[in-house]
Amino acid sequence: MGRPFHTLSYKKPAREGFAVIAHRGASAYFPENTLLALEGAIDMDAEMAEIDVLLSRDGVPVVVHNEHIRRATGGSGRVAHYTLAELKHFDFGYQFKAARGERIPTLEEVLELCAGRIALNIEIKPGAVQDMVLGGIEELCVDLVYRHGMEEHVVFSSFDPRALLHCKIIDPSAATAVLYDDRFYLRTQTPAAIVEHLRADAFNCGKDEIHAKWMADCTAHEVPVNIYAVDDEKTMRRLIAMGVGGIFSNRPDVLRKTALAAPPLKPPGPPSLSSRAT
Ligand code: G3P
Ligand code: CA
Repeated sequence: MGRPFHTLSYKKPAREGFAVIAHRGASAYFPENTLLALEGAIDMDAEMAEIDVLLSRDGVPVVVHNEHIRRATGGSGRVAHYTLAELKHFDFGYQFKAARGERIPTLEEVLELCAGRIALNIEIKPGAVQDMVLGGIEELCVDLVYRHGMEEHVVFSSFDPRALLHCKIIDPSAATAVLYDDRFYLRTQTPAAIVEHLRADAFNCGKDEIHAKWMADCTAHEVPVNIYAVDDEKTMRRLIAMGVGGIFSNRPDVLRKTALAAPPLKPPGPPSLSSRAT
């Protein structure tokens, strides 16, 4: 039995058994992974926000998606090559006229903003993960989450399986979610088996990766499934009808409305004649 994301929420979810997750904050409307995007997600009543975390040169967890700063700032160089003070000089809002001058947030600043207001999925980016179990990005993140009293409202995810194992070693009660990357698993390995091996609590994958067999496997093993990143209502409705436990969207307002309007799931009935073994 995993840990469904809606159980980490500070409030009753809009749809029973389902989590509206603002992907990189409300990133369709604000610069992604900024405090503005997170305030937007809170205003839009999302139950959780997803953020990406890397380390600055001086070892501070900072909230940014790409290892290179070009996409977010128009500048050059890698996040890991700048100190926090240097990163703070760049304009992380430059793509949005109304957000010019927005600075890169630290994980600490994000936790200060979100504690008591919105649950967080902290995605530890592979570029910051190392072999060492202690003293790395995972321990820094876990400590910060505890210092802000958010341990019951945070899930850690990563494409790098080492990060998930490190989190569980550091804090066995931390919630973790596998971000599926087919380079790390055999084709024959099912999501539930992967989750069990990594001692994780949920399985997250892309909207084009999920299929009926994986869904059935996760349902049978009570592994929650969360899907990224979905911005169109038709796909949202299809996934909700499949029974996913959460969707990451850059448009959490649209997702919330769609989730509220979607019909309740039919309880699993007795097997039909055609599906019975002969
Ligand atoms: O955590 C879900 C999703 O954000 C993973 O992919 O590249 O958007 O970080 P990416
Ligand atoms: Ca992410």
